[in-house]
Amino acid sequence: MKAMVVYSTKTGNTKKVAEAILKVMPAETSIYSVENAPSPEEYAFIALGYWVDRGGPDASAKEYMTKIAGKKVCLFGTLGAYPDSDYAQKAMTNARVAIETKNEVVGEFICQGKIDPRLIDKFKSLPPEHPHAMTPERIKRHQEAAKHPNEEDFVAAQTYFRQVVARLYD
Ligand SMILES: Cc1cc2nc3c(=O)[nH]c(=O)nc-3n(C[C@H](O)[C@H](O)[C@H](O)COP(=O)(O)O)c2cc1C
Repeated sequence: MKAMVVYSTKTGNTKKVAEAILKVMPAETSIYSVENAPSPEEYAFIALGYWVDRGGPDASAKEYMTKIAGKKVCLFGTLGAYPDSDYAQKAMTNARVAIETKNEVVGEFICQGKIDPRLIDKFKSLPPEHPHAMTPERIKRHQEAAKHPNEEDFVAAQTYFRQVVARLYD
């Protein structure tokens, strides 16, 4: 079963997770950024990475998803929010529903990723009544995100994908 890893990234976090995942994919698996990814046609298994934008997969990942049909897909993502939050669960659901009607989703993984400092600067300039204005809770979350993805996330992604691959290729 021919496999590839395709990732969408704006600031590099999802690319790092994709490269960690590649190490536990079957031999000869290729890796592409979404901009350079080939047609999914000849691949049976696709590990597809997105970054979370406005609560769901980013536009480039979403666009590529529309090209995929009849495949086994394992999703992975990075986001600024906490990965064990309801928010993260919803983001994963949004990614899944974007692809599951035409494909078999064989797994999904998410971890935190540092937020572009330019976006944080924007938040800082918002008036306090704005829903994205800085609060102590938000600052804490951004500080935690700034530590990710880290070695632990890479190992978690690899552990997750290893068992997906074992299930598919046994
Ligand atoms: C323009 C923009 C919008 C974002 N929107 C969200 C969001 O809605 N929810 C969230 O949890 N994180 C959000 N983030 C944080 C990113 O999802 C997170 O930093 C991710 O790891 C970026 O991945 P990348 O480095 O592969 O581009 C946003 C970041 C940017 C730059």
